[in-house]
Amino acid sequence: MALTVQDLRARKGGEPITMLTAYDAPTAELIDEGGVDVILVGDSMGNVVLGYDSTLPVTVDEVASRTAAVARGVEEALVVADMPFLSYGTDRQTSIENAGRMLKEARADAIKLESGEHTVELTERLHQLGIPVMAHLGLTPQRINELGGYTQQGADPEAAQEIVDLARAHEEAGAFSLVLEHVPANLAATITEELEIPTIGIGAGPETDGQVLVFNDVVGLGEWSPPFAEQFGDVRAEMESAIDGYVDAVSDEEFPAEEHSRYADELDDLY
Ligand code: KIV
Ligand code: NA
Repeated sequence: MALTVQDLRARKGGEPITMLTAYDAPTAELIDEGGVDVILVGDSMGNVVLGYDSTLPVTVDEVASRTAAVARGVEEALVVADMPFLSYGTDRQTSIENAGRMLKEARADAIKLESGEHTVELTERLHQLGIPVMAHLGLTPQRINELGGYTQQGADPEAAQEIVDLARAHEEAGAFSLVLEHVPANLAATITEELEIPTIGIGAGPETDGQVLVFNDVVGLGEWSPPFAEQFGDVRAEMESAIDGYVDAVSDEEFPAEEHSRYADELDDLY
């Protein structure tokens, strides 16, 4: 049986939740078969696969298309679509339509919003309508131009309190879980203890109810990854070696060989 948001809520304080990003069907299929609980079609696709230098240019169409591809590759994991910059939080009608597309058209199970004061009411409305919302506090990269850098958030008591209050407000509004990005580990621990919904951390220490990382960082595919990520493989080196191998084989006329080639007997008299 595929994982539901209720299953995820029930994991609070239990076996740690695993979550990874994916942006295409074959990768999502591998991640799903690997037993990962939640697959996030993150707007990190902007930096990671679409070649933008931030998440800001990512469109609703791009997330919808990638989410549909991921959903086609997944059987067990919960698929969460990440709402891109300015696709929500402006007017309510547009926010709901954009979020709705991810379930109606792209077959996501839930959506994620970078959260703030402006998403409390929207989270409640989406929850009422049947669109499960994963909240996201701490470092919210869509606000990079306000923040000035991808730095740790909530490091002083006032800023920490603000995050605690927003976390509570989003839980009350009906969010089924909360991503905490790049906050002090002790703040993440406090919020995890305060909330009844599971917290999922990235750069938030070991005491959240789950962990999330960007897939490309985990397998070592990116040129750069944040200091709080861990590389569990070296896929980039594998890819480089395969590309070199192909180029060399064609250049040296070793590929294609006899075993890759089929000749049609009927053509023997052609010339
Ligand atoms: O877009 C993304 O990949 C994310 C995760 C880092 C939580 O929002
Ligand atoms: Na994101």
